[in-house]
Amino acid sequence: MTFLTMAKISETALLVNWSKAKNAAISKDRWAHLWVTKESARIAEEYTEKVVPGHPLVPALRNRFFVDALQAFEKKHEEFTFINLAAGFTSYPYLISPHHPVYEIELPHVIAYRKKKIKEFEAAGQLPKRKINFLSLDLNEAPSIKQIEEIILNQKGTVFVLMEGLLYYLTQEAIDRLFGLWNQSLPKGSQLGFVTWPSAIKDTPAMKGLRGCFEKWLQWPQDQYTWIERDYFSRWDHLKILEETNYLVLEKKYCNRPNELVPGTFVDESVFLMEKS
Ligand SMILES: C[S@@+](CC[C@H](N)C(=O)[O-])C[C@H]1O[C@@H](n2cnc3c(N)ncnc32)[C@H](O)[C@@H]1O
Repeated sequence: MTFLTMAKISETALLVNWSKAKNAAISKDRWAHLWVTKESARIAEEYTEKVVPGHPLVPALRNRFFVDALQAFEKKHEEFTFINLAAGFTSYPYLISPHHPVYEIELPHVIAYRKKKIKEFEAAGQLPKRKINFLSLDLNEAPSIKQIEEIILNQKGTVFVLMEGLLYYLTQEAIDRLFGLWNQSLPKGSQLGFVTWPSAIKDTPAMKGLRGCFEKWLQWPQDQYTWIERDYFSRWDHLKILEETNYLVLEKKYCNRPNELVPGTFVDESVFLMEKS
């Protein structure tokens, strides 16, 4: 099984999935455990113990934020399309009504693995049947934008776009192309959820640990991340920020106990929800 060797950036999808499964009551992802393997659990545990102590909670919190945002959007929009960029092994399609068209965009080997496993899980009755439209794309490549634009132009109603755990792995040019498309082509009232890394968190102990691990495990160079400041998102004339939050706030909101996350010991990314006006 080549996919699970922790040799590529796509393996980070397994790492975050372990957290979503471990904290399923918080993440609201009751299928996340299906995607946890012995190897990914071992690596996630080592990563937590030695490098990023806050890791078990953080991806679960962001998953919950986006489930709540997507379901609130569904309540307001009878007809919409859900487009999940870098979908990894997330369960959002199962948490909305099956009549909404769903597109998952990912690197080709992730799509191949996901399709194969979904078939197995459905056959075993472990996963409900859903129609998911899969698109194998490298989002760093300029032509990928045309295919996403086609989906947007050919669908009816509004669109909910998710870019969870993605932007920092893309080039600034690719991010500019995506936000240019959202700004220009999304129907009015569409929403955009994403997480991002501002440069202020570059040298926290957790982030230094992450960058070191990913270099060692995934051959991802320490200087190959894209850091984006908040004002980048406020400069688009047709996109407005609806909500901007962080994990200390989300922990307070979803965990029903005093905060346990210690600043510096988790990847303190920013979580955003924007709307097309
Ligand atoms: C941290 S995982 C996030 C997965 C999922 N969105 C989540 O939050 O659970 C990052 C994902 O980005 C995908 N990815 C990274 N670079 C990409 C690219 N250039 N084009 C498409 N997907 C990419 C990886 O394959 C991986 O699944």
